[in-house]
Amino acid sequence: MIEINDVSKHFAGNKRAIDSLNLTIPDGKIVGFLGPNGAGKSTTIKMLTGILPIDEGAITIDGYDIAKNPLEAKKIFGYVPDHPDMFLRLKGIEYLNFIGDIYDVPKNIRRERIEKLTKQFDIYYDLDAYIQTYSHGMRQKIIVTGVLLHDPDIWILDEPLTGLDPKSAYTLKEMMRQHASEGNTVFFSSHGLEVVEQLCDIVAIINNGKLIFYGDMQEMREQFQTNQSLEEVFLELTNDE
Ligand SMILES: Nc1ncnc2c1ncn2[C@@H]1O[C@H](COP(=O)(O)OP(=O)(O)O)[C@@H](O)[C@H]1O
Ligand SMILES: [Mg+2]
Repeated sequence: MIEINDVSKHFAGNKRAIDSLNLTIPDGKIVGFLGPNGAGKSTTIKMLTGILPIDEGAITIDGYDIAKNPLEAKKIFGYVPDHPDMFLRLKGIEYLNFIGDIYDVPKNIRRERIEKLTKQFDIYYDLDAYIQTYSHGMRQKIIVTGVLLHDPDIWILDEPLTGLDPKSAYTLKEMMRQHASEGNTVFFSSHGLEVVEQLCDIVAIINNGKLIFYGDMQEMREQFQTNQSLEEVFLELTNDE
């Protein structure tokens, strides 16, 4: 479970990028974090993964405060960043072994999982190439594989489906469902709506750094009591006028 308590963030010379955000991400459900570009999704995710300092408020991950107990907290989540352009000078297989080493994944389990996952994602035959030569989608898939390799309870994914081909997107969605159904935490962001109805158990919508809706599809429909399409509801919610 992730708990975000009254969290704010401002960047130099900027208005509040995140404004008194309260959000609970329970176990056993897929929670989608939705909002238009610039709403504050990545900033929130960077605070809850300990990449950006929190200006006000606190965030706990399974009870561990990310600011006070960063090591304990970091051991239990896996994170897929929005820009997967990292470790470009490593070969795919070197990156995965590096992850296996830092998270102490036993060699036999490591080999098995790497083969299974990279075959599912169609990058098995690219593991000897440098990440530098990978496409955006391939870089995303190698990072997702790295996360799944150490099998964390909590998954935090920033726009994980952007740039994935349909088969890989389908595979990842199935994995997210499976992981949540085993009682784990799955939190992912998206600026698109396509995923909501097919994937999310709970939707949290953010706009201008403020949470403007939290609930399931049923509650979203009830709150708006209209025949509006999901798209119209979303546009209305995030309309700045
Ligand atoms: N490092 C930064 N410095 C200044 N402003 C930033 C920085 N990172 C993000 N912002 C601003 O914070 C707001 C939220 O950005 P972000 O969290 O990336 O949005 P999202 O991921 O929802 O598209 C935007 O207005 C953006 O310009
Ligand atoms: Mg973002």
